[in-house]
Amino acid sequence: MKTAVYPGSFDPITNGHLDIINRSLRIFDRLVVAVLENKDKNPLFSTQERVAQLKEITKDMGNVEVRSFSGLLVDFCESVDSKIIIRGLRGVTDFSYEFQMALTNRSMDNDIETLFVSADTQYLFFSSSMVKEVAHFGGNIDNMVPPSVKEALKKKFPNLV
Ligand code: PNS
Repeated sequence: MKTAVYPGSFDPITNGHLDIINRSLRIFDRLVVAVLENKDKNPLFSTQERVAQLKEITKDMGNVEVRSFSGLLVDFCESVDSKIIIRGLRGVTDFSYEFQMALTNRSMDNDIETLFVSADTQYLFFSSSMVKEVAHFGGNIDNMVPPSVKEALKKKFPNLV
């Protein structure tokens, strides 16, 4: 059984993340979505909230597991018996950071492979940070996040309708 790990902050999960999950499932038998416990990043949603959101959104996908992790990603991969990391690439601006991260992970575990997956073009222009900014000012985020995430964002941003 080929398992891949899709790590991230997912603060919150966007339709772009969801598209990458669906695309990865066409390649791998099992996908572990790994939510970083960002201790020093001050996330909008707690780790528990982000894990719960992801579980809700992926509940009908039998071969997806959602876990949280802290510490090194390579150690988490080891713990779920995977050597494959999936990362989304939106464009060249993402590349240098992602490439650096891929090589850092490989320097710690030579067997780790990072696969870059691009989301559909309709999802390429936004990020979780952009979603939060638009939501903060009450803009329309309907095409950016799943409906359940929009409901969660409404509780954080009273301007959002
Ligand atoms: O969604 P993000 O914030 O871009 O995800 C970043 C993430 C979680 C993949 C990265 O911060 C990470 O792997 N953190 C765990 C610590 C680690 O392993 N660092 C070494 C590789 S840079």
